[in-house]
Amino acid sequence: MFKLDRKLVTITGVALVGVTLALSSTFAVAGSIDGAASIYKSKSGAIDGGVIYPRVKGTYTAYKYNEQSTKGVNFGRTPTANELKAWDIDALPDGTGLPEGEGSVELGDELFEAQCAVCHGDFGGGGQGYPQLAGGNQDKDKNGIIITLKNQRVYGSVDAPKRTVGTYWPVATTLFTYIRDSMPYAHPKSLTNNEVYAITAYILAQNGLSVDGEDMDDDEFVLNKEKLAKVVLPNRNGFYPNIDDPNAQEDIRAFFADRAKNIGAGIRCMKDCKDPGGKDGKTPAAVMKIKYEMKDVVPPYAYAKDLPPKKEVGLQHPGKEAYEVNCVVCHKTDAMGAPAVGDKQAWEATLTQGIDKVYENSIKGKGGMPPKGGTSLSDDKIKEIVDYMIEASK
Ligand code: HEC
Ligand code: HEC
Repeated sequence: MFKLDRKLVTITGVALVGVTLALSSTFAVAGSIDGAASIYKSKSGAIDGGVIYPRVKGTYTAYKYNEQSTKGVNFGRTPTANELKAWDIDALPDGTGLPEGEGSVELGDELFEAQCAVCHGDFGGGGQGYPQLAGGNQDKDKNGIIITLKNQRVYGSVDAPKRTVGTYWPVATTLFTYIRDSMPYAHPKSLTNNEVYAITAYILAQNGLSVDGEDMDDDEFVLNKEKLAKVVLPNRNGFYPNIDDPNAQEDIRAFFADRAKNIGAGIRCMKDCKDPGGKDGKTPAAVMKIKYEMKDVVPPYAYAKDLPPKKEVGLQHPGKEAYEVNCVVCHKTDAMGAPAVGDKQAWEATLTQGIDKVYENSIKGKGGMPPKGGTSLSDDKIKEIVDYMIEASK
């Protein structure tokens, strides 16, 4: 899964199929843009290691412009070393491909609070409408399957199984590459490798993991490439059939061969489906997904912890601190389409509708702006923060 950077695209008075677009607007889009007439302007650099390829009249593209003839058969060209490097970004479960670097749980804690908690919840515990990263119950049943993941079926719970890093992800090295390449959501690739190690350590620690007998839930713990490769996620072997060992082919065949047991076939069964049937080739198999004993267990979904101590603040705008805690993640840049704090023009444009409307939009939400920025602050507090944002953008 390789997502391209969000590119800023400026369309300025482009003639398109005889129609002249008189608009001059800047907006963010993900991925590629159709329409040969678009003029690409990338602020953040190109996908291949920061190279920007000039084309004509000051416009440039994220990709190297193919100068070969477009007539006849065109087999393209050999990618440049930088382009190869930009695409070769995966890390294998054994750590191959991970960069050098290290980061502590303590630093990860700070970074997570500042850059991730607004969407993923305090301690990664969810609740903000974005994926929950920690807090799922990892206790295993006698079959070695993590209880949280099957609670809905097995324990008759109405809550969906909690898929968190600790309960669901098979391999820890993916966590590093995922965060490095795609988070924080609005401005991915803004973290250094050391910072990504720190946040990865923090998330693993929140999932109660240890490595080499060393408990990660300790501020002093420092994660590096070697240690990350040794982390065994609790559900590593909970995925079946096993598709990545030398016997993978046989495993997969065996899995599909025993349809009655693994997939279920024949008559759909809604109640008391204990007997898979099908074994003698005559009795139709009943769908038999419920195969574990029901117990009265409702695993906890999240657990409370104290918030980190508040930092001392000196003389400053009363809205500044709350802005940095609650809004900076989306308003630092315009990548999500939000008016960036510090962008004089953007705020002047926003304010043309009048301050009352701006207050209202920030409280009730608008487009990608969640009501109150996803917080439960008072209306007055939100207004105070908006005042700060405007003040800081003059
Ligand atoms: C503006 C909201 C936002 C912020 C801030 C944010 N994320 Fe995310 N995160 C998302 C969304 C949305 C997804 C799901 C993306 C998808 O599935 O394509 C996600 C997915 C993830 C996942 C994968 C979860 C899973 O199990 O599939 C991880 C891990 C993650 N984010 C870590 C982070 C970290 C670390 C940070 C801070 C550096 C961060 N996120 C900041 C919105 C955010
Ligand atoms: C999850 C991302 C996100 C967060 C968090 C967020 N914003 Fe926004 N905000 C946006 C986006 C996107 C827009 C642009 C909405 C549009 O114009 O459609 C926006 C627009 C605004 C605007 C301009 C509204 C207008 O009238 O055009 C204000 C003011 C604002 N946000 C204030 C805040 C405040 C205050 C906070 C924190 C309490 C906050 N935002 C947190 C994404 C966010």
